[in-house]
Amino acid sequence: MPIFSKVGVVGAGTMGHGIAEVAAIAGYQVYLSDVSQDILNSALEKIKWSLQKLKESGKLKESVETIISRIKPTTNLSDFADADYIIEAVVENSEVKRKVFSELDGIVKPNAIFATNTSTIPISTLAEATKRQDKFIGLHFMNPPVLMPLVEIIMGNKTSQQTLEITIEFAKSIGKDYVIVKKDVPGFLINRINGRTFAEAILMYDEGYQKEDIDAMTRFRLGMPMGFLELLDFTGIDVSYNAALEAIKRGEKEPPHFKVLKKMVEDGRLGVKSGKGFYTYKSKIYERPK
Ligand code: NAI
Repeated sequence: MPIFSKVGVVGAGTMGHGIAEVAAIAGYQVYLSDVSQDILNSALEKIKWSLQKLKESGKLKESVETIISRIKPTTNLSDFADADYIIEAVVENSEVKRKVFSELDGIVKPNAIFATNTSTIPISTLAEATKRQDKFIGLHFMNPPVLMPLVEIIMGNKTSQQTLEITIEFAKSIGKDYVIVKKDVPGFLINRINGRTFAEAILMYDEGYQKEDIDAMTRFRLGMPMGFLELLDFTGIDVSYNAALEAIKRGEKEPPHFKVLKKMVEDGRLGVKSGKGFYTYKSKIYERPK
């Protein structure tokens, strides 16, 4: 059951479209924004495709059309004025995120809550771009949001208990289980772990290990649903690259795998979204590489 009526999702890329879908399935009215109508159209197509799959497998109570009709795409953030809960899912770049939040702060009603889906950027540094640091929190979905059962809820230095409680209720209302992370450090919980394991897998690939061997070990020995390199492709190589750039901006040492990511981004090897990453893909809809 929805706990309020309107959710805003900023950014309609890999994560934003999935988050909007999850919120609409749960009964929320959703504003979904991005910088161009083309991106929004593509996001709506992906949502429709995914809803149809869910419908075919008997997982939706309502029709695909009813759920889609709750999503209002817009390129104008002013449309978010009456939203109750805003989730930001724009590129992993602190300046871009801070600019979005600062703009939203002047648009959205004062009691609305701001959540960021950042993978790695400390919540408090983004909250500082607003005058509502007590109503600012990390809500980190796993990819794809529609299938993954868990979210990370991250407390910033000034996040209030009430914001935490509302966020927990919101997570439950969209059918997600959650972990609460009280340490607002880069990567929070899951990406502190992922960051290190992914880095090692990328370095090994660069040293000449076969990607299939690395991923077979990850899947069949560690029991992960996807190999590390496969998951990096699914996430987007640009997302990992941007996260590494953010770390460097914060004054951390350039990680040894950074050059590999940089070269891949320069070569347009962004993973599933560009048809080529560590593996090649025929479609932008994910299929396990052969
Ligand atoms: P993406 O690159 O697929 O999508 C980002 C979207 O933000 C793009 O469509 C872009 O046009 C849009 N955008 C950029 N500036 C904007 C603005 N000012 N206003 C509105 N939209 C704007 O990126 P993705 O993968 O969806 O990542 C988004 C966030 O989610 C990042 O912070 C990332 O670290 C995080 N994340 C990503 C995961 C993944 O597996 N890809 C998993 C969990 C978190």
